[in-house]
Amino acid sequence: MRRDTIVVAAALLMQPAFAGFIQPALQALTWKFNGTDFWAPVHLDSAVYHLQSRAGVITNSLSKRGSSSGGYLGCTVLTISDPIESLSSAILDSLLSEYEIDDVWSAEQFLDCLFIQYNGTKNGVALSSSVADSLGRHGVEHLFLHSAFNATGLATTVGVSIVESNCELGNGPYVVTLPDCEEGGLSMTPVYALHPDNYEAFMYGSYVDATEAGRHQQLHVSLPGTRVPDIIVPSRLSSTTPVAGPLAGLRFGVKDIFHIKGLKTSGGSRAYYEAYGYQNYTTETVQLCENAGASLIGKLRTITFALGTPRNGMSVDFHDPWNARGDGYMSTGGSSSGSGAAVTAYDWVDFALGSDTGGSVRFPARFGGVYGYKPTHGIYNLTGILVAIAEQDTPGFLARSPGIFTRVGRVWADGKPLAPSPEVLPRKMLRYDEQAAFTQPAAAEMIKNFFVHMARVLDLSDNQSVNITKRFLDSNVSETASPQTPAVWMNNVYSDLNNVQGWDEIGAPLATAYGEIPGREGAFPPIEPPVNMSWTDGRDPTTRARYPESQRRRQVFGDWFNREILPGNNETCSEYLFAHSYHIPPNTVKTDPAEARYVTGWYDGLYVNYAKMPEIVVPIGQIEYRSKYTNRTEWQTVTVALGVAKGCDLVLFDVVDKLAEAGLLKEVMAGVLAYPLT
Ligand SMILES: *[C@@H]1O[C@H](CO)[C@@H](O)[C@H](O)[C@H]1NC(C)=O
Ligand SMILES: *[C@@H]1O[C@H](CO)[C@@H](O)[C@H](O)[C@H]1NC(C)=O
Ligand SMILES: *[C@@H]1O[C@H](CO)[C@@H](O)[C@H](O)[C@H]1NC(C)=O
Ligand SMILES: *[C@@H]1O[C@H](CO)[C@@H](O)[C@H](O)[C@H]1NC(C)=O
Ligand SMILES: *[C@@H]1O[C@H](CO)[C@@H](O)[C@H](O)[C@H]1NC(C)=O
Ligand SMILES: *[C@@H]1O[C@H](CO)[C@@H](O)[C@H](O)[C@H]1NC(C)=O
Ligand SMILES: *[C@@H]1O[C@H](CO)[C@@H](O)[C@H](O)[C@H]1NC(C)=O
Ligand SMILES: *[C@@H]1O[C@H](CO)[C@@H](O)[C@H](O)[C@H]1NC(C)=O
Ligand SMILES: *[C@@H]1O[C@H](CO)[C@@H](O)[C@H](O)[C@H]1NC(C)=O
Ligand SMILES: *[C@@H]1O[C@H](CO)[C@@H](O)[C@H](O)[C@H]1NC(C)=O
Ligand SMILES: *[C@@H]1O[C@H](CO)[C@@H](O)[C@H](O)[C@H]1NC(C)=O
Repeated sequence: MRRDTIVVAAALLMQPAFAGFIQPALQALTWKFNGTDFWAPVHLDSAVYHLQSRAGVITNSLSKRGSSSGGYLGCTVLTISDPIESLSSAILDSLLSEYEIDDVWSAEQFLDCLFIQYNGTKNGVALSSSVADSLGRHGVEHLFLHSAFNATGLATTVGVSIVESNCELGNGPYVVTLPDCEEGGLSMTPVYALHPDNYEAFMYGSYVDATEAGRHQQLHVSLPGTRVPDIIVPSRLSSTTPVAGPLAGLRFGVKDIFHIKGLKTSGGSRAYYEAYGYQNYTTETVQLCENAGASLIGKLRTITFALGTPRNGMSVDFHDPWNARGDGYMSTGGSSSGSGAAVTAYDWVDFALGSDTGGSVRFPARFGGVYGYKPTHGIYNLTGILVAIAEQDTPGFLARSPGIFTRVGRVWADGKPLAPSPEVLPRKMLRYDEQAAFTQPAAAEMIKNFFVHMARVLDLSDNQSVNITKRFLDSNVSETASPQTPAVWMNNVYSDLNNVQGWDEIGAPLATAYGEIPGREGAFPPIEPPVNMSWTDGRDPTTRARYPESQRRRQVFGDWFNREILPGNNETCSEYLFAHSYHIPPNTVKTDPAEARYVTGWYDGLYVNYAKMPEIVVPIGQIEYRSKYTNRTEWQTVTVALGVAKGCDLVLFDVVDKLAEAGLLKEVMAGVLAYPLT
């Protein structure tokens, strides 16, 4: 293992064990290689795998290199599975070549040593003579072989140790250490990369706590000389979570309004974080991702209790993260602001969970220029997600790659009460044509062209547009002498539902819990001004008197929309593919903080939540703009939204696959630009 520097991070957390002795709770090895920091919790018993070998062999082999005197050896774990007759160089080379996809593992650091595991049922699996050449070519100096292999004929200069192991280590990079009281054994610790959270997208990092199934631990690491904490990032080869599945090798973060076993939930509120303890269970949608093999790496920032607009500089709670795109002044959108920021900024995050009650996944997807999914309401288990409006809350997610986006979507959908993928996709496009004209003609042109190409790829023979306001008036949904627009009739609906439920479900219990914290007896919790306004409104007798009527209006609107605007279809699941864009010029809310307010009134996109329908946001290209801040040309991503009838979520994933196959949708990059400049 070559390394530029090595630091043994002395006791990150110190816990006195008993009188006179200090027992470090967590000691870890950190080092830098080729510009990246690495981390291995070599003294954390729950993370370290202890292997037994035939007595003495390993110790002798390693001590020749001085490993027993404080050195550490980088090592690679590689698993061979059945069917296998004999292990050849071709098999070895091919498996190792797949390791190149990883951004933690590298041959330079970890291939001095190779541990070949076997998880099949045979005994005495032969090694062909070519294996020795292959080991030589890869520069392997220490080979640990599972005892199921027959190494008798292996003529090699490599030090070979036979390991009696029932351990099932995940594949990937490790460091090897000799245990204190060695009896020919050795210890293997998984290696993580450390990445700085420069955009402040995370609330905190976390990693899998191996002492209890499904438990996570909060942990980010600060190295000397860094401003922001580093997030601990496991290998894509799953050295930390040996779970096979459709999401294996992917990493994700979760908006900090989801409960996860072993972690605290902040809801974006310092008071909430302080008042409540570590959570005891993991919310269903997070668990679905983990069961499918994805690695959770931490909790992401959110606008407090998923409410209001993202602002900086007026905060009681946590600072809003930064949007990596363009001039650096654009809003991330919200309320899943950390989820948007992380996926937009970091190529070491593959997807992020957020939630959408009134646009909170779709806004960050638009502002960051990434893919975002808001599902049909009522499909996923909401227990463990802080409430905004129970009738509208949905979990959701954001990603940069269309392939990862649809993969996560199908993992979630599996076994859920959603309509199956129809044989035939919708043939009709319904364009929502009611929004104000674009002030950026280049965006308008790009969107128009995209829809024309999309119509061709999807064979959309029918093309209509809809004016929801006009249809609403024509249907006299308000049942008033003079029919009212949705903007008038629905004006109080969102705020009444949000404010009453927010106070009853979060505010009132928090006020009690916070007021019981020793030293804070009787104190009302410190909270963001918009939250306080929302709770004040939620307690207001006028609001509470109106609440049942607001609930009724939401229901009436939703039923009308599902019946009249976006009905189902027996053959294509959804009668229409609902297509539009809410593209807006760069939003400078960071420097023009709007007056503190909660979500009020009526805005484009809310009908999606009232109607409980699924909608996705997809990036289609980028346009340039002149930034008044950086005084140069910057680039902004353009997105469109696609929706279908309630329950037809799988149609949207089929559509994304088809458009990606046709080259119309692409993976976007993390960072300043979504697409390379041509
Ligand atoms: C070091 O980093 C550079 C830039 O990221 C990369 O191109 C190169 O392959 C890396 N070298 C090694 C040995 O990992
Ligand atoms: C053995 O490992 C391979 C690769 O990780 C995996 O696909 C397979 O399911 C494992 N088999 C068993 C029996 O665990
Ligand atoms: C291992 O291979 C040798 C020949 O290379 C053979 O003589 C021996 O029987 C094999 N042992 C086992 C346990 O299969
Ligand atoms: C989790 O369970 C423990 C033990 O039952 C309890 O003390 C703790 O308060 C629970 N945490 C939460 C957040 O409910
Ligand atoms: C939803 O999740 C909670 C918490 O894990 C669980 O208790 C409950 O049974 C789940 N509900 C359904 C319908 O699966
Ligand atoms: C939509 O309909 C309303 C009500 O009839 C009308 O005022 C508005 O101008 C229409 N919008 C468009 C874009 O046609
Ligand atoms: C839909 O029809 C309008 C006019 O009827 C046309 O301008 C537009 O290009 C069509 N859109 C698509 C995507 O075919
Ligand atoms: C709308 O419905 C209400 C209640 O049914 C009715 O009194 C009113 O006349 C209707 N208005 C129109 C324009 O149809
Ligand atoms: C919250 O709002 C109330 C009015 O309902 C006001 O008296 C109080 O000062 C506000 N508190 C905070 C922390 O903003
Ligand atoms: C769809 O199927 C249902 C039940 O099979 C049937 O009642 C209904 O008429 C069908 N609708 C259409 C538009 O074909
Ligand atoms: C901004 O750029 C323009 C044109 O490149 C230049 O004329 C102007 O002086 C610059 N303004 C500042 C404040 O640097």
